[in-house]
Amino acid sequence: MNRDLLGIRQLSTDQITDLLRRSDGYFLKLNSTDPFPKSSLLQGRTVANLFFENSTRTRTSFELAEKRLGATSVNLSIQTSSLTKGESLIDTVNVICAMKIDCIVVRHNSSGVPQLLRKHLPNYIRIINAGDGGHEHPTQALLDAATLQSKLGALKNKKIVIIGDILHSRVARSNMILLNKLGAKVTLVSPLTLTPKYVEDIFGVKVVHEIGDEIKDANAVISLRIQLERQSRSLFPNLSDFRMRYGLTPLRIMETNAFILHPGPINRGVELDNEAADSEKSLILQQVKRGVAIRMAVFEWLFEVK
Ligand code: CP
Repeated sequence: MNRDLLGIRQLSTDQITDLLRRSDGYFLKLNSTDPFPKSSLLQGRTVANLFFENSTRTRTSFELAEKRLGATSVNLSIQTSSLTKGESLIDTVNVICAMKIDCIVVRHNSSGVPQLLRKHLPNYIRIINAGDGGHEHPTQALLDAATLQSKLGALKNKKIVIIGDILHSRVARSNMILLNKLGAKVTLVSPLTLTPKYVEDIFGVKVVHEIGDEIKDANAVISLRIQLERQSRSLFPNLSDFRMRYGLTPLRIMETNAFILHPGPINRGVELDNEAADSEKSLILQQVKRGVAIRMAVFEWLFEVK
């Protein structure tokens, strides 16, 4: 059976730990000022990056990971593809895969697209979920865990607070599943209207609707963007009110030693201020660097099974 990475839920704790360990090796090389020693691990392999939704970090880091491992990469340009002429998603992906593709990396604004493609594509084609709607973003959760572990060591019993629009966040979902598997204590801070129902029971997390003292004793805070593109109606009064209640403001940052993470793209002055984004406690660019290492580790793991 070939491997895929469709979500964190499919991974065992041992597999997560293994992927994090593999990524540390790549991170050491990426963190060096020496030229990256190009690998031939994926030589002869072709990876298609199918991003049906915008991306800066994920798309670029996948492409860099592929090239540094010796793969050939192709990027489907959605705006200029035949999807705009009415071709279905399945037909378009089948056309790409007919050109001897070994792996697809797919991002889509509909939840479940990677799973749908798994049912329609030949088994030898590996599939990586690069974010599907509000469902999962597994490589983001892995890179967040790698970043957290690099500063906090083992995450068991560490307090991780996730603040913001939990309802629409695939990053929050994948992080809740992963952090739960690693034994971290997760607290969600979000408006009632941006909190999924029954989330405490489903994901084993604590939920509060006001920041209060929650971040003061946290080991790390993951701040999330409000996903206006996934909201069909207004779920909070305005951005200024959101910042006052949930934003990482200078005062809130002064009151905690927690590390600050954000998956990006960041909206300065909304979910976090400059003092948070640019502070010594901010790991936002470390996350980006870890992102390339994690994606290299994922390719290594996928292709070690022939
Ligand atoms: N974190 C993340 O998925 O960022 P992009 O949308 O820029 O890929």
